[in-house]
Amino acid sequence: MKNKIADLLSQQISELNKEEILPLLEIPPKSDMGDFAFPCFRLAKIYHKAPPMIAQDLVNAIGQQPFLSEVKAVGGFLNFYVNKEQFAHQIIEKFMTDDNYGGSAEGDGKTVCIDYSSPNVAKNFHVGHLRTTIIGNSLYKIYSKLGYHVERINHLGDWGTQFGKLIVAYKKWGSKEAVEEKGIQELMDIYVKFHEEAEKDDSLNDEARAWFARMEQGNEEALEIWEWFKDISLQEFIRVYKILGMSFDHYTGESFYRDKTENVVKVLTDKGLLVESEGALVVRLDDYDMPPCIVAKKDGSSIYATRDLAAILYRKATYDFDRCLYVTGLEQKLHFAQVFKVIELMGNDYANNLIHIPYGLVSLKDGKISSRKGNVIFAEDILKESINKTLSIINEKNPDIPDKEETARRIGIGAIIFNDLYNQRIKDVIFDWDKLLNFDGETGPYVQYTYARASSVLRKTGDLPYQFNYDLLTDDASMDLLKEIDRYPSVVKEAADRYEPFLIARYSMDLSHAFNRFYRECQINVDDEQLRTSRVGLVKITRELIRDSLGLLGIECPEQM
Ligand code: ARG
Repeated sequence: MKNKIADLLSQQISELNKEEILPLLEIPPKSDMGDFAFPCFRLAKIYHKAPPMIAQDLVNAIGQQPFLSEVKAVGGFLNFYVNKEQFAHQIIEKFMTDDNYGGSAEGDGKTVCIDYSSPNVAKNFHVGHLRTTIIGNSLYKIYSKLGYHVERINHLGDWGTQFGKLIVAYKKWGSKEAVEEKGIQELMDIYVKFHEEAEKDDSLNDEARAWFARMEQGNEEALEIWEWFKDISLQEFIRVYKILGMSFDHYTGESFYRDKTENVVKVLTDKGLLVESEGALVVRLDDYDMPPCIVAKKDGSSIYATRDLAAILYRKATYDFDRCLYVTGLEQKLHFAQVFKVIELMGNDYANNLIHIPYGLVSLKDGKISSRKGNVIFAEDILKESINKTLSIINEKNPDIPDKEETARRIGIGAIIFNDLYNQRIKDVIFDWDKLLNFDGETGPYVQYTYARASSVLRKTGDLPYQFNYDLLTDDASMDLLKEIDRYPSVVKEAADRYEPFLIARYSMDLSHAFNRFYRECQINVDDEQLRTSRVGLVKITRELIRDSLGLLGIECPEQM
C-alpha cells in the first residue's frame, strides 16, 4: 500500500521520485487521521505555495482510486484512507503468492562475507563475543532472505605473540592432565601466571618471543602445542554454537593467513606505501588523521592488522564479495578504519564495500550471573543458566508440555538473543534475568508465547484451507494486524540496509501486540464458516510471520509453552 501511494504521488510530483517519497510517508497515530499521511511542508519551497494548498491540489489531482476510499487534505497533510476490503485482499494475496514473503531477489548473484564471532583461542568465549555471534548470525539470516549468498566467516584469534607466552607458561607451570581436565580455564590460568612472573623476570618475554618466532618458522614442537590448544578451545566454542543453534561456513582464523602476509608486504612495497619507522614497517595515514598502520614488527613478524589485510585480499579473490561486513566491539573502530584505508591506498576500489559494524558493551546486573572464577564470565555459563531458569519456570507453570528440555532451550536462548537485539546495536546490553525472562514483558518469550498461542488456536480449529472473505476482515483489530503483515518486507529491507536487526525484533513485538489484540477482540472459532476460515487464515499468516521474523534473529519457536 505504501508503495502504491508513493507511486501515485510520484506521478503527481515530478520533483520527487518514488524512492524519495517512500520515507516521507507516515503512519498517523490514530486511524481516523487516515492510514497513511504525506506531509507537504517540504514542497512549499518548490511550489512557492502554502502546504495546505498544495495538499488540496494533490487531492484534486489524485481523484478517485480503487484502492483508496478517501484522500483528504488536513492542514499541510495529505491523509490517505485505504479501501479496507481491497487492502485486505491485496496483502493476503501478496503473502499467498510469494513463498519468500518479506524477502526479495535483490541479492541474487551477489555475495556478502560476514566476519563475526571470532573468539580468541585460549581465552574464554565471553559475553562480548556472544553479541557479535548473535548480531552476525542475524545479519546472515537477513541477507540470505534478500537473496544474497552469504559466507559466514569465523576469524578466530589463533595466531600472535600470546601463543609464545602460552607455550612458555605451559612448559614451566602446566601439565597435560590439567589442560585436558580444565580446558580453556587452565590455559587462562597459566597465561595469567606468565604475566605475574614476567613482571619479575623480563627474560620470560624474550623466551616467549622466541617461541612465537619458532611458530612462524614452522617449528614442529611449537606448532604441535599450539594446535592442541587450538583444538581444545575450538571444542569449547563449538559447544557454545551448538547451544545457540548456529554454525559457520569457514573457521579461517588469523593463522590461516600466516603464509599470506608476505604478499601484503610485497604489494605495499611495490606501491611505495611502506616506510620504516623505529624498525617497524608502516603505512603512514597522517593525511587521514589516523596513526600509522603497522604491517611488520621490528623482528619481521606480522600483527593483527597484517593478517586482516591478507584476509581481505584473500576473500576478495576467493569469494568476490559484493560487501564484507565485520561485526566487532566499538573499540576496534580505528583498527578497521586503518585497515580499510590501506586497502584503498593499494588501489582497490572495493574498499568502500568493507564495512565495520560495531556494537556496545554488555553489562551484568551484578550478583545475578554466576561465573566460574573471579570476574571471568563464560558465555556458555550464561546460556546454560538461562536455559535452567526457563526450565524451572516451565516446571512451575506448565510441567506437562512435551519436549520440555528442547522448549526450555529455545526459550532460554531466545530470551538472550532477543534481549541482545531489541535495541540499536550500539546501545549497551544489560543482563537482567527478571527482565529478559519475563513472559509478559518486551521479551523474546513474550513473542514466542504469542506464536505458541497461535499454534494452540490452530490445534483447536484444525488446519483449515486458506479461504477469505475480505469483507469480514475490515474491523479495526484485523486491519491493524494486516498493516503489520503489510509492513514486513520494508522492515526486512531497512534492517539489511542499516545492519540493524533490532528493527526486526521491534517488528516481531508489534506484530505480536497486533495479534494479541486481534485475539482478544475477534473470536476465532465461531460458527459462521466464512468468518471462521477468514480469521483462521489471518492466524496462520501471523503465525508464519512471527516464526519468520524470529528466525531472522536466530530464535526458534516452541509449539507449546
Ligand atoms: N578476535 C578478535 C577479538 O576477539 C575479533 C576479530 C574480528 N575480525 C577481524 N577480521 N579482525 O576481538
